Amino acid sequence: MIKSKHLIEIDDVTNDEIYEVLENARTFKEINDRPLKKLPTLRGKTIVNLFLEPSTRTRSSFELAEKRLSADSLNFSASSSATVKGESLLDTAETFDAMKVDMVVARHKYGGYCRILADHMEAKIVNGGDGIHQHPTQTLLDLFTMVERMGTVEGKTIGIIGDIVHSRVAGSLAPALARLGAHPIFIAPPSYLPAVPDALGAEVSYSLDAVLPELDVVYLLRIQGERASGLSVPSLREYTMLYGMDLRRLASVREDALIMHPGPMNRGVEISPEVIADPRAVVLDQVNAGVAVRMAVMYMMLGGEDEAAA
Ligand code: CP
Repeated sequence: MIKSKHLIEIDDVTNDEIYEVLENARTFKEINDRPLKKLPTLRGKTIVNLFLEPSTRTRSSFELAEKRLSADSLNFSASSSATVKGESLLDTAETFDAMKVDMVVARHKYGGYCRILADHMEAKIVNGGDGIHQHPTQTLLDLFTMVERMGTVEGKTIGIIGDIVHSRVAGSLAPALARLGAHPIFIAPPSYLPAVPDALGAEVSYSLDAVLPELDVVYLLRIQGERASGLSVPSLREYTMLYGMDLRRLASVREDALIMHPGPMNRGVEISPEVIADPRAVVLDQVNAGVAVRMAVMYMMLGGEDEAAA
């Protein structure tokens, strides 16, 4: 079980808990491959999916995971919630607490939203991605995919490439990899690097071509246009020339390496269609793992409660 009440940052789970999530997710993945995918595990629990920023993968995989564990799900989006009428975060939090929900899975463009919810709610909070801060369940599904394919992340060199400074995916993934004994490297132009990359446990390289042959995992990120007022590079064309994964660069990627992307992808910018079609690319495996990993997280945060209280 996960000891922390909330999952807001990847540091809310210990290394042992991360490996337990991966082990449980393996079981749930097998169940997801069966014709009958439903389990009674979270019967009687109510989970609110409060997505105030767009999402395809995270929101739908949480909803599927909840349904497969027999929880009752409520879905709120920005356009359908009272926040568009000016309701505050605190009033939203108190409203759901009054309804006695057990868990809120939240996404918001503000990188402190989940912490505010956690400070003002009885319900457990799971961060579905908050601003440029963190996206811990993305990290868990990425780790699942890496461990399934490589056996371990320990000792592996993982290149995280692109718009790191605006990436909540990098904000969770790099410290988790460092904690688990991997060697994360941020590969980006200086304008897309955080001020203190060491704080996230990563080294830095400005040249993709220089490090590409060393990488066990080539992890590509989208330029987060919605989080900046403009490009932080002279042009997209120049960015693609220096940091895009295309057919020419594929020749430098190791035969046993993985090519990953959290999605949504900008085809032809950070990743070309030929790279997506390459057998080393595991983007849809990441999506597939998302449902099983989120089932594991919710099971480990909610599933043991009743036995513990008995
Ligand atoms: N990776 C990810 O968070 O995708 P969505 O924005 O579609 O949820």
